[in-house]
Amino acid sequence: MEDFSCLIPDRRWCRRERARCAPEGECVTSATARAYPNIALVKYWGKADEKLIVPVAGSLSMTLDDFPTTTTVTLTDGGDTFRLNEVDHDGTSADRVTVFLDLVRSLAVDAGLDTAHLSARVVSTNEGPTAAGMASSASGFAALAVAAASAYGLDLDTRELSRLARRGSGSASRSLIDRFAVWHAGDDESSYAEAVSAPDMAMVAVPVATGEKAVSSRQGMIATAETSPFYPAWITSTQETLTEMIAACERGDVTTIGELTENHAIRMHALIASCRPSIRYLNPTSIAVFDEIAAMRQEGVEAYATADAGPNVFALTRPELAHIVADRLVGFTKDNEAKILMPGQGAHLIDGASA
Ligand code: PMV
Repeated sequence: MEDFSCLIPDRRWCRRERARCAPEGECVTSATARAYPNIALVKYWGKADEKLIVPVAGSLSMTLDDFPTTTTVTLTDGGDTFRLNEVDHDGTSADRVTVFLDLVRSLAVDAGLDTAHLSARVVSTNEGPTAAGMASSASGFAALAVAAASAYGLDLDTRELSRLARRGSGSASRSLIDRFAVWHAGDDESSYAEAVSAPDMAMVAVPVATGEKAVSSRQGMIATAETSPFYPAWITSTQETLTEMIAACERGDVTTIGELTENHAIRMHALIASCRPSIRYLNPTSIAVFDEIAAMRQEGVEAYATADAGPNVFALTRPELAHIVADRLVGFTKDNEAKILMPGQGAHLIDGASA
């Protein structure tokens, strides 16, 4: 171990970038990161390893350019705290943050960093609806991974940050990546997301409800693995769909991308409905939106529906058709707004660690 004692009187060594001999008490590190949600075109539903959050099959998504989560992590020695949208949280969401920070701290121990014993104040702002199938856990844990890694002084590349974010929420692994991401199944080492080339496409968000969902994706996935007779077929068919989807993305075939997207979303919701007792995330308005999108296609307006573990629907379409699609679907939305989203940026620091 190197000697990190500081030669300047009344100062102590602070082993982080830009922080060398900091005045006593001032070696406080804080970092702010921003991440966007992603919407899967090939869905992730099922874990091979519950603790490590390794999926049973790969998935593919588009990172959005709006509804960001912005998170500041400040190191303290006063215990972990979590504040989301101006509200202090304890209970399940704060526990998940602490479990995640414990993982970051264990990486800091491995890296021999003097931050490893510190706790963190986490302050987050989420500009999309939380826990209603708008992928807020993806943007949330991607932003937390980037901000916490920087604050604790870890030097991680995108692949390692994706693996880290995965441990907070599986889909968060994909929000590290610009535009389109494929998240590999595999094991702890090999399960990360990376970029896949794909044509420009628009996602029209059709939020039909903003309440918290009744069954979390974590619980829903466990119920599916334990009770659905279709689960083995879901795993094999998802792997096949992913191979087809990657090929369609790489050749820029929007029609095939759209058809696969809608079909895979319907399969996931059918799989979930086949649980005992049955679980249903879509509500009657969601189904009406799927029908309206199918009707538009009949009329020659190319759009395809998808939905995650909640009632909100997204319409995938060509950028030049996005306004027509949004105008057509806005009447179904809760707040009379169908936002057009484009491929966005992966999670990134907006204010780095400093002493
Ligand atoms: O990352 P989680 O645990 O919130 O699971 C997300 C699962 C879906 O959103 C339904 C599908 C997906 O691939 O994002």
